[in-house]
Amino acid sequence: MSAETFDFDKKINRLNTSSLKWDLLGADYLPLWVADADFEVPPAVTERLKKRIEHGVFGYYLAGNEIYDVLTKWFLEEYGAVIPNSSWIKIVPGIVPALAVASNIGGGKSVTNIPNYCNLIGAPESAGNEMIRVPLKNEDEYYSIDFDTLEDAITEDTKVFYLCNPQNPVGRVYSYEELKQVSEFAKRHELLVVSDEAHCEVIFEGKHIPFFTVDDYARDHSITLYSNGKMCNVPDLILAFAVIPNREIMKEFCRLGYAFGEEHVLNVEAGIATYSESKEWKRQLIEYLKGNRDYLESELKKRFPKAKVPHLESTYLQWVDFRAYGENVDAHFFKRNAKIFFTDGKLFGGEGYIRINFATQRDNLVLALDRMEEAIRLH
Ligand SMILES: Cc1ncc(COP(=O)(O)O)c(C=O)c1O
Repeated sequence: MSAETFDFDKKINRLNTSSLKWDLLGADYLPLWVADADFEVPPAVTERLKKRIEHGVFGYYLAGNEIYDVLTKWFLEEYGAVIPNSSWIKIVPGIVPALAVASNIGGGKSVTNIPNYCNLIGAPESAGNEMIRVPLKNEDEYYSIDFDTLEDAITEDTKVFYLCNPQNPVGRVYSYEELKQVSEFAKRHELLVVSDEAHCEVIFEGKHIPFFTVDDYARDHSITLYSNGKMCNVPDLILAFAVIPNREIMKEFCRLGYAFGEEHVLNVEAGIATYSESKEWKRQLIEYLKGNRDYLESELKKRFPKAKVPHLESTYLQWVDFRAYGENVDAHFFKRNAKIFFTDGKLFGGEGYIRINFATQRDNLVLALDRMEEAIRLH
């Protein structure tokens, strides 16, 4: 039996649907900013939600074994990662609140690389903890962790290293050797590693390695964070969870995260359908996104030869530096002159860069490129 084909070119009107992405600036702008995709969720997710909603009763929820069994199986099949029992998993309301809570474990400063996902930098700071920002090494738009600079930047009261893998916004998928170096660095400085792996299901090249599988230190000193938000485009109905093998760290995380509250039925139901029934959908999604990545990268290079365009191994977020076209050619320039809403790289610690969300129908990318070209021509 041949597999069902899913249509990612299907246009869905998202205006006036209380969509942050589309309704914040409204119909005059093409929104290619926040990491939210313009695709319908997998049919299995919709079906499972419908069935639960039809039941019509929403009392206090008891999450049974199913979600934990499904997640354990997924990690084994997708990553060869063993989660021996459900006590390693804590369902959380989102990755961002978990990033904030984790910074209070150990009570000290945190350190991370920039550019980086704005809330990975901001959530620990909002929880009252200083974040030391260390630039990634950028060699001709190929980014890597600069361990020498990290060694110089770290202080005695630094307690947590925040890793973003796959890396948003530069799109790297760190190799085993790089992750091993992270673990060794953390061991040398007795750091807890908080690894944000939000984008791990959207991999174009390389292999995603969950941080807790790297070695014994990584297993015993880490909080690794996941959600199905990016994979199934359910950022407003996510199943987010932390994998924490160390019992003491789990206890402290749950104590500090008391305000997380309990799991919610629709999020868990959507999560079960994501991780047990949407593998083929994910395969086709990645194929579509890879096509968009290749198209966008080559068109950007062709139409804007002076722009700097890193090659993405993961994520549907293209990082681009347009400064060679003028110091002010940034996200605000394109908003004013091309009516396109991109994310401003400054939010990520990447002055002058813009971030283009290409998880949309291909013709929106064609439209965006045409409007950008015209804006640059008139500049
Ligand atoms: C690196 C990273 N972490 C976390 C999040 C937020 O994840 P969630 O909404 O699944 O909690 C995002 C969203 O864009 C992200 O890019």
